[in-house]
Amino acid sequence: MLQPLVVGLGRSGAGLHIRTLARLAERTAAAGDPLVTLPAVGCDPRADRLRTAAALRGTTVVATLEEALRRLDPATVVAHVCTPPRLRYALVAELAAHGVRRMIVEKPLAASPGELDALIRLHDEAGLALVPVAHWTGSRLAHRLRALVRGKRLGRLRRITVDQHKPRFLRSLTSDGHDSALDVEIPHSLALALDLAGPAELRAAHCWDLRCEDRALPRMGGAHLELAHTSGVTTLLRSDLGAPVRQRSVVCAFDHGTATAHFPLSEDDDHAQLVVTPARRTSAAVADESVTPAGRTDAPEADEPTHLVFRDDALTDFLEDAYRAFRSGATGTTAFTLACATARLLDAAREHVAAAPTAVSHASGSR
Ligand SMILES: NC(=O)c1ccc[n+]([C@@H]2O[C@H](COP(=O)([O-])OP(=O)(O)OC[C@H]3O[C@@H](n4cnc5c(N)ncnc54)[C@H](O)[C@@H]3O)[C@@H](O)[C@H]2O)c1
Repeated sequence: MLQPLVVGLGRSGAGLHIRTLARLAERTAAAGDPLVTLPAVGCDPRADRLRTAAALRGTTVVATLEEALRRLDPATVVAHVCTPPRLRYALVAELAAHGVRRMIVEKPLAASPGELDALIRLHDEAGLALVPVAHWTGSRLAHRLRALVRGKRLGRLRRITVDQHKPRFLRSLTSDGHDSALDVEIPHSLALALDLAGPAELRAAHCWDLRCEDRALPRMGGAHLELAHTSGVTTLLRSDLGAPVRQRSVVCAFDHGTATAHFPLSEDDDHAQLVVTPARRTSAAVADESVTPAGRTDAPEADEPTHLVFRDDALTDFLEDAYRAFRSGATGTTAFTLACATARLLDAAREHVAAAPTAVSHASGSR
């Protein structure tokens, strides 16, 4: 069985990965097909302070990678790389040097073009089975959006608009893991846009400062990013990290209607929602289309909006798929390729933002 090693025990490592691994172990053991050996080993230089944290109960917490690997067999380890983006490549290289081949790596894949190139070289040369965290694209909601894009029901996809808003003051004030709002929520939606509409070029990008009581955090207030896909689709990604409310929604505008996808907002509730609204057709067109060859007139069902609500525990499903692929040795490169394309566009956006004369300041509500 595979043994999890979670490197970096912050919000992602402890709050998401450790918790989800427990759910996955329970789920697969109950189904009679256990996938994961627990307890997980967690590694973080802050180990002494973290050992008593409630989220880490049942986890073996150590301070260094050497100590962690003394307790594990690299041949069966799945390393979850949950450190901040700037501490990504060096860690992956260190794990690979210790013989660890299977890794799940948090977004964004790399913090600079140089690190991304180095990571791709390492991936190829060391034969790593490297799975980037991609629970948005792997979600049931994204699966339904893909089906709408590929099906004919609403015509061609024309535009994607994503809104990812939340109040993120405390975390931005107390951690410096991210250089700008581009690295926080945007990597999820950017990967989804590329997945739905294909390769794209950056058209515009900007960030603004996060204004708190007594200070402003440069570029952490939010980000806008615009893409032009070679398929002709255009995308607008908006993330306001000083918003008073949470929102994670994707609107896909088609020739003949829209699909609005609402992703679960937090681990508190794993329900997703999808509202599909076909464009109203003229009554003449409806009458024309609803007369069958036999002369029978059917109700124009296609015009009715639908509102679906369904469970979408995307991170648990994502980890299950990743562990199954590791176990069978069938980890493909599709997700890695998509994450690399996402990382390249993020790099282009960072350059664009860095070249801007001053950070654009947005008043609240300017999303
Ligand atoms: N997929 C998601 O939904 C999601 C959510 C949150 C964060 N993330 C991503 O996860 C990554 C980590 O973010 P976070 O919010 O957890 O950051 P964080 O600051 O909360 O935690 C990072 C942890 O890494 C530890 N660390 C630093 N150097 C280390 C090393 N060499 N070895 C082991 N541990 C080390 C730190 O002590 C800290 O505990 C980021 O890239 C972030 O974008 C993803």
